[in-house]
Amino acid sequence: MTQVIRTSAELREKVATWKRSGMLVGVVPTMGALHDGHLSLVREARKQSDRVIVTIFVNPMQFNNKDDLEKYPRDEDHDLALLEAEGVDVLFAPGVHEVYPDGFATVVAVSGVSEPLEGAFRPGHFEGVATVVMKLFGMTQAGRAFFGEKDWQQVQVVKRMVEDLNVPIRIIPCPTIREEDGLAMSSRNVRLSPEHRALAPRLHAEMQAAAAAIRAGAPVTATLEAAKAAIGAAGFGAWDYLDLRSAEGLRPITELSEPARILAAVHLGDVRLIDNIAV
Ligand code: PAJ
Repeated sequence: MTQVIRTSAELREKVATWKRSGMLVGVVPTMGALHDGHLSLVREARKQSDRVIVTIFVNPMQFNNKDDLEKYPRDEDHDLALLEAEGVDVLFAPGVHEVYPDGFATVVAVSGVSEPLEGAFRPGHFEGVATVVMKLFGMTQAGRAFFGEKDWQQVQVVKRMVEDLNVPIRIIPCPTIREEDGLAMSSRNVRLSPEHRALAPRLHAEMQAAAAAIRAGAPVTATLEAAKAAIGAAGFGAWDYLDLRSAEGLRPITELSEPARILAAVHLGDVRLIDNIAV
């Protein structure tokens, strides 16, 4: 049975009993509307921990767009059934007031790695992520936390924060889970129209083609520009970015002298798709 807990006081008691018997606690932070991408993190958490907490909290602080927050899919009953089937011990699903009570006044801001890419196009987003993740780490007291590489920059921001603030938790990045046609799974995919859903995998296909070309020695800027043009011509909307960056620091690079990734964000209808792959 997965126990649903809504207050940090109750969660703290539960975790304290686990820890007294020497158990390693793993946490998988999510915003719900769970899919196989989330569940892959849960499975990894089960492998690497004695007890697993999944958190579901649609964090208002990280949404820079009110409409996106309102339209964010929510279905806790369905999520709970999925977590039951995975043998999750606790679903921690606090209300907004439990996380941000009156008088709440602290922001965790990670500079550097949070600034380009998503940081540039979603002002305040990573402050919201870092703040809530720090709180979830404090509330769950977990020893390991599992994050998806789907949100590559988020993983880098969280790792930086944990190192800088000496947070006693290990961050475990897990690979991106994709649909059979290559589209990275995302809670927002359900909002794609059938035509846009059919088009969406082109993003990953063009990113892979660009990565292969760059690996084979093609010039970086021209290759990325060509990929952008191809995706635009296929019927996608505006680009936020399609960049080659160093894998950890996310510095712009034009030559393959260190581990690198292509990261992309593009609009399709009123959905914004993000993806990234290793080069
Ligand atoms: P959410 O978008 O719900 O994602 C929760 C976790 O699932 C993140 O670590 C994300 O990278 C991972 N994930 C999503 N899609 C995935 C996929 N296709 N393959 C593998 N992992 C995937 O990311 C957040 O929520 C929030 O920012 C959060 C960290 C919970 C803070 O509010």
